Amino acid sequence: MGIKIVGTGRKLPGYMVTNKELAEFLDTGDEWITSKTGIKSRAVCTDESLTDLAYDAVNTALDKAGLLPSDIDLAIGATMSGDYLMPSLACCVLERFGVSCPAFDVNAACSGFVYALDTADAYISCGKAKTVVIIAADMMSRMLDWSDRSTSILFGDGAAACVITKGDSLKYIRTTAFAHIDPLFAKAGNGSNPFAKSPQPKGFLEMQGQHVYKFAVKTVEHEIQSALTAANLKAQDVDYFILHQANARIIDGARARLKLPAEKFPMNIQHYGNMSAASIPVLIDEMLEEGKIKPGDVLMLIGFGAGMTAGTALMVWE
Ligand SMILES: CC(C)(COP(=O)(O)OP(=O)(O)OC[C@H]1O[C@@H](n2cnc3c(N)ncnc32)[C@H](O)[C@@H]1OP(=O)(O)O)[C@@H](O)C(=O)NCCC(=O)NCCS
Repeated sequence: MGIKIVGTGRKLPGYMVTNKELAEFLDTGDEWITSKTGIKSRAVCTDESLTDLAYDAVNTALDKAGLLPSDIDLAIGATMSGDYLMPSLACCVLERFGVSCPAFDVNAACSGFVYALDTADAYISCGKAKTVVIIAADMMSRMLDWSDRSTSILFGDGAAACVITKGDSLKYIRTTAFAHIDPLFAKAGNGSNPFAKSPQPKGFLEMQGQHVYKFAVKTVEHEIQSALTAANLKAQDVDYFILHQANARIIDGARARLKLPAEKFPMNIQHYGNMSAASIPVLIDEMLEEGKIKPGDVLMLIGFGAGMTAGTALMVWE
């Protein structure tokens, strides 16, 4: 392992949808959504593309890193909802900058950022890249069936970027997939194959909420213990547990089991909902801006999502 994050940026769509606004066309309400998820609002794209958001996030991250677009020698998109099935979101962003380098997307659903971090580490550690940009962005609003109250209340759109170079910040990283598709998926296809023998998929996100909830609770607990053991740390040694923002109850539950104060489990889900791959790096960028993350702080990042996938990283901020 041999990387550090030298610049971060984020960009959210301009339009915030409140629970009250959802209740105007769905059989739901602020009380149910808040008590079950902690979500009060989510940012939703109206006329922005995901490439628009991602481009702005990368621009900011490069500025903060004091680097130029031409310095990027690998672009990794962490997304499952780019503007195109092909080309990748990473290619779309590079086109805006007018630069050339290897570029591809990693689809590990909501674990995407940690998977991209692992990939960046592999490229940098073996000397194949010096400056990697991770573009963690998802437009969940285009995957949802907005008439399905059990899913459409949960998600939001957003983008974040991190510039990664050689360093000593990453201490532990583990990615895994339990290869269980049923609880959370969105089928692909445009439904126009005239030779298809069965009905064509609609492509909406479908979820067994309780199943995913139980998976998330179990996974977070297991990932925390595995990382602490591997790094020979106690939970108290970690300054911030930056968990994927899927449900405030999942995060609160993990915190309560460890008997740690709320400040150690930062959240932004109340504002943005679940932004999939963007959720962890958007939160990191906000915390840096607020001066919460300082050099020397120990961060544990945990992503989990469709696949079912999980990814955990331990970093000492440089
Ligand atoms: C989605 C989730 C909040 C639902 O909470 P839950 O306690 O499991 O609720 P249930 O699905 O059992 O539904 C309970 C009731 O609320 C109803 N309900 C579902 N969505 C509702 C909504 N938006 N508003 C009001 N009622 C709703 C259900 O129809 C059900 O009604 P019934 O008892 O009459 O059948 C919860 O399961 C969850 O957060 N799961 C994890 C989701 C997740 O994190 N996904 C992304 C992972 S990356």
